[in-house]
Parts: sequence; C-alpha cells; structure tokens
Amino acid sequence: MRSVTFDADSRTWLLRTPATSYALRLDADDVPVHLYWGPVLTLEQAASLPSGARRVSSFDGGGARDELVTEAGARFHTPSLQIAFPGGVRGVDWRFKAYEADGGHLVLRFADAHEPLELELHYRVYDDGDVIERWTRLVCQVPVTLLRCDSAAWSVPMRDGYRLSHVAGDWGAENQLVRADLTTAETTLTSRRGMTSHAANPWVMLDAGDATERHGEVWSGALAWSGSWRITVTRDPAGRAGWTGGFGHEGLSWRLEPGQEWVTPVFAGLYSAHGYGGASRRWHDYVTKHVLPEPDELRPVIYNSWEAVGFDVGEAGQKELAALAAQVGTELFVMDDAWFGGRTSDRAGLGDWWPNPERFPGGLAPLIDEVHRLGMRFGLWVEPEMVNPDSDLYRAHPDWVLHQPGRPRTELRNQLVLDLSKPEVADWAHKWLHRLVSEHEIDFLKWDCNRPFTEVADDRAWIGHVRAVYAILDRLRADHPHLRVEACAGGGGRTDLGILARTDQVWTSDNTDAFDRIAIQRGFGQVYPARVMAAWVTDSPNPITHRRTPLAFRFHIAMAGALGIGGDLPRWSPEELEQAAALVAVYKDIRPVVQLGVQHRLPYGVQYAHEDRVVVLAWRGPVRHGTPEPPLRLEGLDPLGRYRDEDTGVLHHGAVLMSGGLPLELPRDEDYASALVRLRREA
Ligand code: DGJ
Repeated sequence: MRSVTFDADSRTWLLRTPATSYALRLDADDVPVHLYWGPVLTLEQAASLPSGARRVSSFDGGGARDELVTEAGARFHTPSLQIAFPGGVRGVDWRFKAYEADGGHLVLRFADAHEPLELELHYRVYDDGDVIERWTRLVCQVPVTLLRCDSAAWSVPMRDGYRLSHVAGDWGAENQLVRADLTTAETTLTSRRGMTSHAANPWVMLDAGDATERHGEVWSGALAWSGSWRITVTRDPAGRAGWTGGFGHEGLSWRLEPGQEWVTPVFAGLYSAHGYGGASRRWHDYVTKHVLPEPDELRPVIYNSWEAVGFDVGEAGQKELAALAAQVGTELFVMDDAWFGGRTSDRAGLGDWWPNPERFPGGLAPLIDEVHRLGMRFGLWVEPEMVNPDSDLYRAHPDWVLHQPGRPRTELRNQLVLDLSKPEVADWAHKWLHRLVSEHEIDFLKWDCNRPFTEVADDRAWIGHVRAVYAILDRLRADHPHLRVEACAGGGGRTDLGILARTDQVWTSDNTDAFDRIAIQRGFGQVYPARVMAAWVTDSPNPITHRRTPLAFRFHIAMAGALGIGGDLPRWSPEELEQAAALVAVYKDIRPVVQLGVQHRLPYGVQYAHEDRVVVLAWRGPVRHGTPEPPLRLEGLDPLGRYRDEDTGVLHHGAVLMSGGLPLELPRDEDYASALVRLRREA
C-alpha cells in the first residue's frame, strides 16, 4: 500500500500512504520543492502538477514551497535551515546528488555547490497509516554554525483561508484547545524552557476554515522532541500556508566541527479528509503502532500517594494507603515524592537518592514486599534531572548544574537543573537509577521534572540534555524489560512523541479537578491516545480548585483515560470506598475498549469502540436553566448493527444511535452529572 516512486522526466517523487499522497520535485536549481499533499494521486498525475508560481516582481521571494527553506538567494520565507560557513557565507546552494528509496524510506542526498556540506532529507511512510515522518541530517567538512536546523517544512494546498488549531496552557491548565483564523503573518508556537512545556505543545493542525469534528480536510504535524522547540506557521501575502519546525528555540546556535553529524528529531505530518476527529484517530493509531514501546499492554489502575500525603511520606502511612488502594482494586501502587535523602519538603534532599533512613528504617523492601503481598505492582517517583542546593549531591558537585559564570543560579521550586549533557552527570544519573531498579523490586518509575531551564551556558546543552534523558530511559528499559515509566513534568509539561517513544503514559496535569479535566483531556486527545493519558480520581473538594463534584462524575471523567486514584483514601467513607471499588471494577471491564479502542469525541462526552463493544462516557457541568441538551449522536457504528445496553438490556439500532442519538437524561438537579453506557453489538 505504501510506496515511493520517482518520475525521472519531471524529477518528481511521489510518496503514497494507504489514503494519501505527498509529492515533491526538484526545481531547475535542484531545490526540493513541495508539490502536493492530499488524497491519493498516481505518479502520472503527480508528474503533471504545475511547479508553482512565477516571479512577478523583483520583490517576490522564493522559498515558500521549499521542502526545507534555506537562506540562499532571494528567499525571504521563514527559514528552516540557517547555516553559517566560515568567511561570512550563509545558506545552501543545493546540488542534487542521489536518492535512495528503501521500502517506505526515501532519502534525498544533496551537497552544497561550493562548501563541503552534505544534506539529506528523509521521508518515511508506512503501510498501516497515513502519517509521514520527516527529518534532516547534515554533516560538513568545515566548521559551521547552525542558527536553525528544522526537521522539515510542510506546505498545505492553497485555500481561500486557513484556520490554525493548537493548544496553549499553563501549569494545571495544560492543553487548552485554540482554534482561530490564521492571519497573514508568521505565527510561532514555541517552548524556550528546555522541556516540551505546559504553555504549548509541539503539534499544529491547519484547515481551510471548513473542517468540523466529523468532516473536512485537516493537515497536521507533530514533533517528536521533549526539549525546547519552535514551529512557525506562515500564511504569506500570496495566500500560501505551511509551517516549519524543529528542536531548539530562536536565538540558539550550534557549532559543528568538521565531520560532525547533525540529525534532527522526526517531525511527523498527516493529511486527513475526515475532520478533526478523523485526524486525531489517525494520530492515535500512529502513536500506537509506531511510537509507544508497549502499545498493546493494558495500563494498570494506579494508586499514587501524592495528593493524599504530599511530602509526609513514611512506611506506616504508605502501607495504610496501600491496603486501601488494594481494597478498591488498584493494581500498581506508586509512592511519590519524599521517600529519599533529606527530602521532607521541596527545600532539600533532591539528588540524594537513597531511602530516608528515618522514614524507611528497613529500606524500601518492607513497603515493596507489602505492596506485592497485597497483589499490586510497586512504582516509585524520581526526578533525576534536578537537585536541591541543600543536598549532599550539590555540596559535592556544584558545577554539575546549568549555570553561567558570575550569574546568580535561578532557583525554581528551590531546585536547580542538573546538566545531563555532561557525560559524567548523565552517567551518575543512569548508575543510581540502574542500581535502584536492580536492587529493589520496582515495576514502575514516575519520572518527574519540575522546573524549566535557566542559565544555560552552552547552547549544546538544550539538545544534549534531552538526548541524555532519552538515552538513560532507553538503557533502563533495555536492562529492565519489565520496567514501565510514566513521564511527568509538574503534570503535563513533557507530553510529546519523543518522550512517548520511551515511556508508557504521561501524567496529564497536576489539576485533577474532574470538571477542569474535561478541557485538558480534550486537548490532550487531539494527538495523544487515551491509553497514555493518566487520569486520577482524587478528593472532593479538589485540593487545587476547591470544587466539589460527585465521586461518579470524577470517575467517569478519569475513566476516559488510564484510570488511577490519587485521593486520601483513609478519609473516604466506607460507602465511598465501596462505590470506588465498584467503579474500578467497571473500569477494568471497559478498559480494553477505552485503552485499545477507537475514540470519537462527542459534544459532551466521548465514545470508544473496540471489537463488538462500545463505551460512552457522558458528562455535564453547571448549565443555565433552559440550556438545550442535544441528543448524543454516536459515531462510526454499523448502521445495520443492533447494540444491546449491557446494563439495562435495552436494544438499540446503529442507524438510530448515529442519527437520533443515545437516549440519555443526565439529571438536571445536579450541577455535575455523568453517565457511563456499555453497548455490545449482537451477532
Ligand atoms: C509534580 C507532579 O506532577 C506531582 O504529581 C508530584 O509528583 C509532585 N511533582 C511531587 O513533587
């Protein structure tokens, strides 16, 4: 189904995925130029595509459709590659050398006409989905400075107008979906924080302003990188639109020594003709098939101690929590922060990774054994990239942190960033993690990261640090195949395709208020699938928002992802514990449908379908009197199929569920109402 073909006469390459085509061509100057991205074309059709607009005035610039926009000649478009050679020479004078197509992998090799630069554009397509992966590799035999080196520039077809979708946010309010007309300008989405960030997430979607959740063409891209990044979306005055993006934020530069290779992360792109929902489902499918290390494994129901006890951690208290967690049916008990060194608050101890001898006089083994005896797996919180100045580690190695000579070291949450781009620091981090996991029966790590970078003295650290994190995670997983990892950065500050390639789930947000979570989870799900979206049920009133919501409402929203519990269980009443146990049991029943199924976002809920089962989770927050409640029309069912409600026994017809909707009356006398419906298709 996938293919890479070449028409020698027009020098056109055509990439085919099951439902889409992507075409590019070498122009008369050997510059690779974008031609087409949309529904399937034949090579003959692609070869017949016109090459693009002619210059009409001396003020016209080129570059708008380049596959990687450089600074050479009359190119005034947002650059993807800014390279400075010795002697004041900038940009690339492209010379095509050769191409290789191996299965779905296309490599276009170029050189510079004057400088000893090799430049490769990589493309990869798959048989089982429409996502196209792209990245760039370069190597030069003279020293160069890279001021920008994006993974790819993506162009979309010309339309009368464009709309940009992306997410913005903050700590505790990640992934707020923003959908607005794309103005004629350069719009930059970025993180300058050394991590993916809460404020933005490295993906974009463009449509012509006519796409809906169910219908319409959507072009999208997602970057596989967990450090600083930049994506610039451009709509130019001539009416063309696209984006270029990659790692690093503006203003950084990297000096490459002769022969030193530079490879960018993957920037994946997707065209879908089935609306935002269709685009999201294809992204979920891609993450499942080509990103996650253990995609098909059902995620366990987790209990996490953070919201219950904060820094007040000890063996007895954790055992008490573990007993109750087991009672309500959780499968993995995670002891969060404050089990180590002198960490009794966020002021001290970070970096001293041995069990606090006062809190755990017999080490961690008695707790771990008890958790295992209760039938749960054991997980532990770590924050390997950080250090409190008040720690033995910092006293021994004050030079290991990001810092600039003569400048104050900015503390955030009383901590500094360890510079893992330094081999000795990365080696230290790997060694203690490896020892920790080898010496204890640890099944799961929650890898946290609670502050952005400041005072970076060498720009290489922005990239080297992230690569070191990846390398440590990759080694740990290879050496401990049973180990599962949750990515966390003060909630959802490190959610991206790069970290998902070596973790199993993401802590979505520190905000566990179920009502706030509706928007956070909706934004998260635009690209990332439910199975990686960790969602806990916590206490009411919520510790952050102080909002009171019913237990079932909290559960129904958390059940839309990888369910966990983070409440202070000793304070829950026997009735609440009983209700929680019943709801955890229901979740275990629907878990394959939620975690392995196909997701359809509904106007006030979400639907998952897997094999012959369909699960609908619906919810409503406070509404004004008279607010209409439209029927919840289901999607993607067999119109001729009969679907039996597993709880009430009522029989529904697929065609009716998709047109008239699922009869569902959320109680009007409750501010926070919710429902869970399980349907099974009859043979
Ligand atoms: C931030 C995380 O998001 C929380 O869940 C918790 O692990 C704290 N850090 C611990 O310091």
